[in-house]
Amino acid sequence: MPTELEEWNVTEASFPAKGTPAERLAFLVRCAILAPSEHNSQPWVFHITGETLELIADRKRALPVVDPEHRELVISCGAALYHLELAARRFGYRADVSILPDLKRHPDLLARLSLHLSSPATEEELALFEAIPRRHTNRLAFEPKPVPADLLASLGDAARAHGAWLVPIDHDHRVRAAELVMEADRLQGSDMRFRRELAAWIHPNHTSSHDGVPGYGFGFSTVASYLGPFVVRNFDWGDEQARHDDELAEAAPALVVLGTEKDEPRAWLNAGKALAHVLLAATTRGVSASFLNQPIELAELRPRLSALLERAGLPQLMFRLGYGPSVQPTPRRGLEEVIRR
Ligand SMILES: Cc1cc2nc3c(=O)[nH]c(=O)nc-3n(C[C@H](O)[C@H](O)[C@H](O)COP(=O)(O)O)c2cc1C
Repeated sequence: MPTELEEWNVTEASFPAKGTPAERLAFLVRCAILAPSEHNSQPWVFHITGETLELIADRKRALPVVDPEHRELVISCGAALYHLELAARRFGYRADVSILPDLKRHPDLLARLSLHLSSPATEEELALFEAIPRRHTNRLAFEPKPVPADLLASLGDAARAHGAWLVPIDHDHRVRAAELVMEADRLQGSDMRFRRELAAWIHPNHTSSHDGVPGYGFGFSTVASYLGPFVVRNFDWGDEQARHDDELAEAAPALVVLGTEKDEPRAWLNAGKALAHVLLAATTRGVSASFLNQPIELAELRPRLSALLERAGLPQLMFRLGYGPSVQPTPRRGLEEVIRR
């Protein structure tokens, strides 16, 4: 395995059951960093002191054009927090978490937690934990095979467990949702600032970078992956992306929106936890996901998606679910880059 992908090699055997609390917390961080994040920006830092771990937003890794309010940044950190808590449960611990413990003075401190011995993991927790290194965003076309209704219902339950909601977009509303994605693609593709920001996070397939998305994440060949950042930066690809996403959205076995009642950091953290739980639960059943968040990222289109859903609350993320070909993992920053002691 190339060194930038080594971080995916997490096994339960490496849990330091007899180690110090700090060593156990560091192991949990290995699981947390495998969480999804916008553009694989990994906008997190973990501060370990003795028996306490703090999850801190790394706003140097923010994406000012696509995510000016840092909403997706906090959602990404929420996903990492769910991985942390799940990994604790896998080894019979419960994480005592306080969310945004000092919002006024230290808004970057998203969560502070410590571990307490608790009951053994349930079958479900074991399965979710084992799915961590198998979950990957899959941007390729999915097979025309429906996602079972019982799975969609249990993904809805998973989102609700974190105070979020997950609603499938039914066939009557699919075309209008796809049109919003297309409109968003055209707006983003014609925006030079957006293209510059995105291009900075797209790398050739053989990258030594520990963050961002290698071209293979978009299905690019090795040669195309060297051209990718140049093309993304310098050409208005909105129309072409719109055509591509229209096909993906309309053919998706399931297209779902994850949302919350409110739109503030606590709700975003919950949305991130819900997202990670939903994606891992889908992975346990062989179902992959990929995002079509564009209409939510543009302030002028988000209310139109909301209206389409006919549901109170705010859409936070939209993604396809289905059965796809296997895909490679994306790189991660190592522990030495994300843990501060
Ligand atoms: C909040 C959030 C927003 C995301 N938005 C998009 C998106 O708009 N388009 C996309 O292709 N992927 C999106 N992703 C997926 C990330 O690009 C992906 O998680 C990252 O590259 C790491 O790869 P992995 O999920 O395979 O581990 C998003 C992920 C998160 C957590």
